[in-house]
Amino acid sequence: MCGIVGYVGPSQACPILIDGLKRLEYRGYDSAGIAVVNNGKVEIARAKGKIASLETTLRCSPIHGTLGIGHTRWATHGRPSEQNAHPHRAGKATVVHNGIIENYGAIKQTLTASGRVFGSETDTEVIAQLIDHLLEQGTAAEVAIRQVCRTLKGSFATAILIEDRPDTLYAVRKESPLVIGIGRGESFLASDIPAILNYTNRMVFMDDGEMAVLKPDGVRFTDFDGERLTKVIKTVDINPVMAEKGGFKHFMLKEIHEQPRAVTDTFRGRISEEKGEVYLEGLQITDEEITRIRRVLIIACGTSFHAGLVGRRIIEDLTRLPVEVDLASEFRYRDPIVGDETLLISISQSGETADTMAATKEASARGAKVVAISNVIESSLARMSSHGVIYTHAGPEIGVASTKAFTTQITALYLFALFLAWKRGSITLDRRRELIADLVRLPGRMGEALETSATLKRMAAVYEKYTNFLYLGRGINTPIAYEGALKLKEISYIHAEAYPGGEMKHGPIALISDQMPVVALLAQDAVYDKMKGNMEEVRTRGGVLLAFLAGHEDGSLSRLAREVVRVPMSNPYLTTILLALPLQLLAYHIADFKGADVDQPRNLAKSVTVE
Ligand code: F6R
Repeated sequence: MCGIVGYVGPSQACPILIDGLKRLEYRGYDSAGIAVVNNGKVEIARAKGKIASLETTLRCSPIHGTLGIGHTRWATHGRPSEQNAHPHRAGKATVVHNGIIENYGAIKQTLTASGRVFGSETDTEVIAQLIDHLLEQGTAAEVAIRQVCRTLKGSFATAILIEDRPDTLYAVRKESPLVIGIGRGESFLASDIPAILNYTNRMVFMDDGEMAVLKPDGVRFTDFDGERLTKVIKTVDINPVMAEKGGFKHFMLKEIHEQPRAVTDTFRGRISEEKGEVYLEGLQITDEEITRIRRVLIIACGTSFHAGLVGRRIIEDLTRLPVEVDLASEFRYRDPIVGDETLLISISQSGETADTMAATKEASARGAKVVAISNVIESSLARMSSHGVIYTHAGPEIGVASTKAFTTQITALYLFALFLAWKRGSITLDRRRELIADLVRLPGRMGEALETSATLKRMAAVYEKYTNFLYLGRGINTPIAYEGALKLKEISYIHAEAYPGGEMKHGPIALISDQMPVVALLAQDAVYDKMKGNMEEVRTRGGVLLAFLAGHEDGSLSRLAREVVRVPMSNPYLTTILLALPLQLLAYHIADFKGADVDQPRNLAKSVTVE
């Protein structure tokens, strides 16, 4: 939610800031702005809407200077408008901010009473006003910024320019991500790695309660009390090209097609087919701790929650441990039964989702052993997990609708289930070998499943006119139905609901008519005939059936359904991935056909860092 970027060095700041903002646009796109120090004066350009609008503004009135900050906004306090766009300036202080200042109301009241005039409706402006207030009283810039950080409640990743410090950029972090890039004679900051990866791969990940003072020749770190800190510079091994569209019309389409590679990267180097063993390098859980686990709890939000639902079946089947899955936003507000025999698996692509982090903290405080599944190296979630992290190696996911993160999360859960089953001795060596061999064959089958794209594009042209869809699955494929419906609604704005097939007769069947396409998911498994029974119920009531089948068509489906989309089959756990792919493509092609903004759907943002 909101992206920030900053630069100080010998080059013109404006093109670097705009390039960085474009790579952060997935975090929010309600408005954008930059501030650059030009001959000792701060100049600001802001525009409502996407970065493209800001670029138009800058073409008319270019800004020059070699020190600057930029922001792309996902509105929380204050409607999307130019007035509420960042940067916000008060006197000598100019700031960009990602996060929420919870006590901004009280601060604003005090400052207004002392005669300060606010120019926006945002919570952010209090940061600039407070700093300037202290500067006016003669407080030194660094000291003033630290004092303000101690006053603010809530979360912030903030970059600050002070007008009479034309070679210095200040950055502070509390509960919102911030990475510092160390270049040669230049320094960068950003909310996320891809924004600055074209300039440097040497990064410092800031922690909560830290401040960075960036100059062209280096960066100094302190805590909010001014204590000097020594931070480790990490070399990030991500190819900048991974964050480009690579010839595809949208990031989402590229990311859908990247999935065989992403899944391969997620299991590569972590399995031995011969020994039937799994190695998860980031885990810090002992064999004894694994033996003492009595229950597993999975928490996540959105698409990651759907991956968790698939994970439940896999872990329960392979380990015979009871598994519960909860939405992070719900978990926090009940009195959950968690103890030191609970293994908590927190799943988050971004590793920054506020609800998931808070729920993880809560479970951790109650004694749970926490393992994270995250796609972002050194994400906040990864760093707060007591018993390690399993990284999905999907590469940067830029499309706001999650695709490759989902299938790699299922892959990571499959690996973890196998790992736990091996360590707990709950399945035989032959079974482990068999399950690992299925995983190795999966990317090839995913490639075949993606060949359905042309069929789905044709179908999209026919079905885009409908305004309601129903998705049905059974057993382990029910979460895939949930995920298919979520994909359709978030990028095409078509209303879609998902149910387990057996539940239909308890209510949703009332919706069936020839105006309601019903997407039915089937695999040739134990519930194949049951699902066909549900499809008969739909057909009898005039519903429009679209069947998505894993396995061979026995001729009966084409009699029932108007369309049959076929993908290869694997074991039931991995078949979920194969069925997810054509549903992603269906949603994509329908949204594209409708001319929707596929990569940046309205009202959404990639990292949901607010509750
Ligand atoms: C949907 C989508 C969201 C995220 C959710 C959790 O396509 O992307 O539902 O899955 O916001 O995000 P992470 O996994 O980053 O915690």
